[in-house]
Amino acid sequence: MNATPPVIELTGVTKHFSTEEVDTYALRGIDLEVRKGEFVAVTGPSGCGKSTLMAVLGLLTAFQQGSYRLAGRDVGTLNGDARATVRNRHIGFVFQSFNLVGDLTVLDNVALPLKFRGGISRSQREERVRAALERVGMTQRLKHFPHQLSGGQQQRVAIARALVGEPDLILADEPTGNLDSENAATVMRLFEELHAAGATLLMVTHEAALAQRAQRIVPMLDGRVAGHA
Ligand SMILES: Nc1ncnc2c1ncn2[C@@H]1O[C@H](COP(=O)(O)OP(=O)(O)O)[C@@H](O)[C@H]1O
Ligand SMILES: [Mg+2]
Repeated sequence: MNATPPVIELTGVTKHFSTEEVDTYALRGIDLEVRKGEFVAVTGPSGCGKSTLMAVLGLLTAFQQGSYRLAGRDVGTLNGDARATVRNRHIGFVFQSFNLVGDLTVLDNVALPLKFRGGISRSQREERVRAALERVGMTQRLKHFPHQLSGGQQQRVAIARALVGEPDLILADEPTGNLDSENAATVMRLFEELHAAGATLLMVTHEAALAQRAQRIVPMLDGRVAGHA
């Protein structure tokens, strides 16, 4: 009996995309459990469904069959507003392309999840934003705009934004995919620090060397967890 509670419980999840030309079965029955405090790497070749899985886990897209419990709550059947609330409170996202808002400063970008959440004063927000930026070593750039930062700096800001709301789960889809090896190493060190501090992390990567640094690897192939029927 493992006493650590599951953050993610995915059972039999399927997702297909239908277009005029073709039906694509991106997820063909995924079972996945991730416990609190785990650092998991999802790997597999291009097109095997990794990003679709992250989108499902992040409540960014609906799925057809199966069930999804996030931090003990069935979230697969929520409507759009409820999904947005759960997403904001429970999940932090890190994307390959950073996805910072170009006309907001570093400070305002990182504050976004707290602003959206509401009920937090401006001064409390700023304190939490500073603390999050501290964790990624970016407190010297509060008034900068994304285009004034290097890719590695932008990704550190994006990680601060993912952290600031103290989510139950951090989802990162190829977070080092647009970075040179030095900045990629910095991002991986940050993830390891977050893991050591108790965060639950799920990271997609197609690079074996990066996946090895996670605590557990979930290999995917053709919409399934490889090795599972
Ligand atoms: N919005 C979409 N519409 C149609 N097909 C899609 C869409 N998103 C992904 N797919 C298809 O689903 C499959 C899995 O894609 P994806 O999850 O992006 O794979 P990965 O991230 O592992 O490269 C691919 O065949 C892809 O073309
Ligand atoms: Mg992908």
